[in-house]
Amino acid sequence: MAAGHEKVETNSALMIVLILIVVSIGGLVEIVPLFFMPSVTKAVEGLKPYDALAVVGRDIYVREGCYVCHSQMIRPFRAETERYGHYSVAGEFVYDHPFQWGSKRTGPDLARVGGRYSDDWHRVHLINPRDVVPESVMPGYPWLAENSVEDWPVQANMKALRVAGVPYTDEEIEKAPEMLEGKTEMDALIHYLQGLGTAIKVTR
Ligand code: HEC
Repeated sequence: MAAGHEKVETNSALMIVLILIVVSIGGLVEIVPLFFMPSVTKAVEGLKPYDALAVVGRDIYVREGCYVCHSQMIRPFRAETERYGHYSVAGEFVYDHPFQWGSKRTGPDLARVGGRYSDDWHRVHLINPRDVVPESVMPGYPWLAENSVEDWPVQANMKALRVAGVPYTDEEIEKAPEMLEGKTEMDALIHYLQGLGTAIKVTR
């Protein structure tokens, strides 16, 4: 036994391999059960998959890099819950592929921004944030109001999301383009923002 120990302590390559094995076991024991726990794999009650317009809005959110400045993850600390509302729970994100949690907050967290402002506020804010928040450093996105989303490949996106586990019906996918008729990228993005974090009733 003592000889074996000496071998490990005097051979750093062997030590590294053994450390990696031990750490992987520790990691697996913590991570693997998460794949099977209903509290992190099941949607919270009331959570619906994004409808077609929200899927497009979310694509635009990703395309424009909103996540570079905004997180969507309220941590369970008092300073956060008092500002943003109920902390985020895993079951709110089961239809997010990929999720937009982020870690950089140049602007506020957006996990519960749904319903906080009117659609008109968002429209003005997204065209030129300084029109409503004079000290804002957020860039404007005026082109969103000019681009139509009628040709967006939304059906393909929804089919891909279905493969990832989002329970879209054939009918929802069939009807998706109808929902985009006459809509702009601005409409889609605002529709997406207005749904964020609304599945859980928040008292603020
Ligand atoms: C360069 C960083 C930056 C980027 C990129 C950015 N924002 Fe912002 N955002 C901010 C800052 C700073 C604020 C706070 C000041 C304000 O309200 O304008 C903010 C505020 C907001 C708010 C109001 C949140 C609240 O609770 O008051 C919304 C909604 C928002 N941003 C959405 C977006 C969207 C959608 C995009 C992508 C199209 C985006 N932002 C891109 C920095 C950014």
